Order: sequence, then C-alpha cells, then structure tokens
Amino acid sequence: MWCELMDRPEKITPRVLKEYKVKGRHFACLTAYDTPSARLSDEAGIELILVGDSLGMAVLGLDSTRPVTFEHMLYHTQAARRGVKTALFAVDMSYETMTLPGDKIIKYAKRFVEEGGADAVKIEGPVFELISQLTASKIPVIAHLGLTPQSVSDEKGYKVQAKTQEEAEILLENAKKAEAAGAFALVLECIPLQTAKKVTENIKIPTIGIGAGPFCDAQILVWHDLLGWDTAKKFKFVRRYLSFGEEAVKAIRHFKQDVSSGSFPNEDESFGTKELL
Ligand code: KIV
Repeated sequence: MWCELMDRPEKITPRVLKEYKVKGRHFACLTAYDTPSARLSDEAGIELILVGDSLGMAVLGLDSTRPVTFEHMLYHTQAARRGVKTALFAVDMSYETMTLPGDKIIKYAKRFVEEGGADAVKIEGPVFELISQLTASKIPVIAHLGLTPQSVSDEKGYKVQAKTQEEAEILLENAKKAEAAGAFALVLECIPLQTAKKVTENIKIPTIGIGAGPFCDAQILVWHDLLGWDTAKKFKFVRRYLSFGEEAVKAIRHFKQDVSSGSFPNEDESFGTKELL
C-alpha cells in the first residue's frame, strides 16, 4: 500500500528498490548508528538505512573499519532498528566476521536479522559463493565492489578503483556475478563515473553509489559527512548539507558562558520559586 503524501510504500523491500530501478526512480540511502539518526532519516524519507561499519571511524573513534566487531555492530543495529519504520534496514558484516568460515558468517548474518531486526546484510568484495549461500538462507544481500574499506588499513589506502579499461571490465564482470549470486543491490564505492554508468546499465539490480558519480540508481552517504559533524577536511565525493560540528561547538560554548555568568538556569528553568527563599 502506498502513502499518498510521499508516494512511498509503508515498507521498503528489496523488490520495491528493484522496481524503482525499472521506473528510473533514484533513491537515497544513509548510514545510521543509533535510534535518533535512524528515526530522523526515516522521517525524511530515506529509502535505505545502513548501519555501516564506518561506525568504527564515525562513532567509535577508530582509524579504520577493521577493528569493528560483530558485537559493536549488533549493539548499534539494535539501537538504530528502534528508529526505523519504513526504510529498508541493512547492516554491514564486519571485517572480523568476514574472516570466519562461511557457516559462521551465515550464523552471524542470521543473528543480525533475528536479534538486530535487520532486513538485509551488506558484504564487501567478490564473495559470490557466500552471497549465494546467504540468499539461499533467505537473507537478502547487498554486495559492495570498487573500493572496499575493509581491505584498506588506513586513510592512504582510500584510492579511486577500476580506473583502467581492464579493471573496469573486471568490475563489470564481478557486478554481474554478484547479481547472479542473488544480491538485490550493489554498492559501488570510489570508481570513475563512466565505470559506474556501464555497470548500472548492464545489471538489473540497483547500484548504490558513493564516490561513483551521478549515473548510479541510488546514492549513499555517511550520516556524519552529510551533516558536517566533522569540521576537518571532507572527501571530494561528499556534499555537506549542514555544518553541524561548527553549530554544535557554538551552542556548547554558549551554554558554558551562560553557566559561568549565572544566567542558566533562570527561574523558568527551575522548580519552586525564589519567593520561598
Ligand atoms: O560502512 C559504510 O558506511 C559503508 C557505506 C558508506 C557504503 O559501507
């Protein structure tokens, strides 16, 4: 059933996203790591919310996604789940989990669904056998090709991928394999826009770009990047829609001044009345 106001189904499913591709309707995806970020994204009409393992850098203060554990991911998945009503809700399989044997990876993916309320899992790299096994176990999968952050251990490793003709062809073949293995969507990270266009035109599942140009079927950004939490340099592919970090520091300084000047709290912000003194 479609909500009249937003032309949006009550629940976004993998099938809905595939239909969007057929209709040429681009959709927006965003990461979330807790209840408020998921709730605000869902309210704003974001179609796919991902608890990314970017959690490591964005929230946990780590240098890469590698130290992020299954427990970190499950804890944040459960928190974000409480904020989601309509969006498709997906979670990243972390690096640590992906080093385990296939049957264990499937066990953990099931826990994300059963204990975390995830609708789907995302996995990085050309792991087509695993994608088949997960989909055969009725766990919807988003594949992730191009730059796969779990394969790089520090910021210097973040480089544009599939730049040569040969690399672009390998990427296209891998995208087709991910589709054949049963993935319902494909994240393409940090690749030239021509390569992303070619892949998008040659597979039936939606492509979700990050640093992959305008020709993908959907775009995804990290919550903190889109809202400008970090005042430091931003990646070329990020568009900041807010300078939350700067605004937050201003607000916190203001609070500090009000406390030191004695203007906070005033009587309206207190219980009881001064007359009783
Ligand atoms: O971990 C993450 O946040 C991601 C996306 C931004 C695609 O993988």
